[in-house]
Amino acid sequence: MRIDAAKFFSFSPTGTTQKVLEGIAQGLGWPEAERVDLTRPKAQAQGVCDSGVLTVIGAPVYAGRLPAEAVRRLRPLRGKGGPAVLFVVYGNRAYEDALLELSNLAVELGFFPIGAGAFIGEHSFSTPATPVAVGRPDAADLRLAREFGQAVAAKLAAAPGTAAMDPLIVPGNMPYRDGATTGGLAPETVADECERCGQCVTACPVGCVHLEDSGVVTDKAACIRCCACVKGCPTGARVMTDASIQAIATRLATNCKDRKAPEYFV
Ligand SMILES: Cc1cc2nc3c(=O)[nH]c(=O)nc-3n(C[C@H](O)[C@H](O)[C@H](O)COP(=O)(O)O)c2cc1C
Ligand code: SF4
Ligand code: SF4
Repeated sequence: MRIDAAKFFSFSPTGTTQKVLEGIAQGLGWPEAERVDLTRPKAQAQGVCDSGVLTVIGAPVYAGRLPAEAVRRLRPLRGKGGPAVLFVVYGNRAYEDALLELSNLAVELGFFPIGAGAFIGEHSFSTPATPVAVGRPDAADLRLAREFGQAVAAKLAAAPGTAAMDPLIVPGNMPYRDGATTGGLAPETVADECERCGQCVTACPVGCVHLEDSGVVTDKAACIRCCACVKGCPTGARVMTDASIQAIATRLATNCKDRKAPEYFV
């Protein structure tokens, strides 16, 4: 089928979803397509994607679901029955219902899913003391991301239109699992190690970190626990000290050592 343009949407607080997206973009043969970064505070997907536009949407997995913030930012988008490529990136534990949720959301918004993938990224809670999927997506993951893009491009080239394609089946269950809890806790700042560079402020996708005369101030009620501020802090001053998150990180570092492989469905 004829594709006139491509448009890529992503929500990626710690950057792994964005890396996978670039691999898929290369494989699709649309390396220069328009990117819409939904990660910045107040970002929203807007407008209508015509049927000749190839839409790609990527988001991380939070508690086996899509981050509620990503769903909220995607909701204003509309498709006109055009093809959509959907992918999630998870931290080597499991993606559970997230890919199904994204596929169902795309249909609800008016798209026709033609390819879906689940890739692995370094876990947001990974630290040197509790490493989980460190360095992923790596070269092997990105090779598979390109391969996924190529498989989708071949599917598009072979069909006269989406009407000739079978509906895409992706793994997951309904009703979906409960989503991730937000608010109530957030990373802390070790004042002695903070250089007041403001990178945690810039990194926060919900704008809940502020630099004040007294130091870094965080609105814990708004925190989505994405750890972008932790990973973006150049001095290590920003740390997730909460005992419940540290316990999860310890469990993940113990139980999720075996390398999971990306999967895709075309
Ligand atoms: C609140 C929260 C919940 C998460 N839940 C899961 C999960 O259920 N399964 C999993 O494998 N990884 C989980 N992760 C890890 C992320 O999916 C993973 O690190 C992903 O690569 C982050 O994407 P990003 O770099 O685009 O932000 C979670 C991360 C956060 C912050
Ligand atoms: S990124 Fe780190 S060093 Fe910079 S202001 Fe935030 S906590 Fe301080
Ligand atoms: S304060 Fe919370 S929401 Fe903001 S970047 Fe840090 S972990 Fe993410």
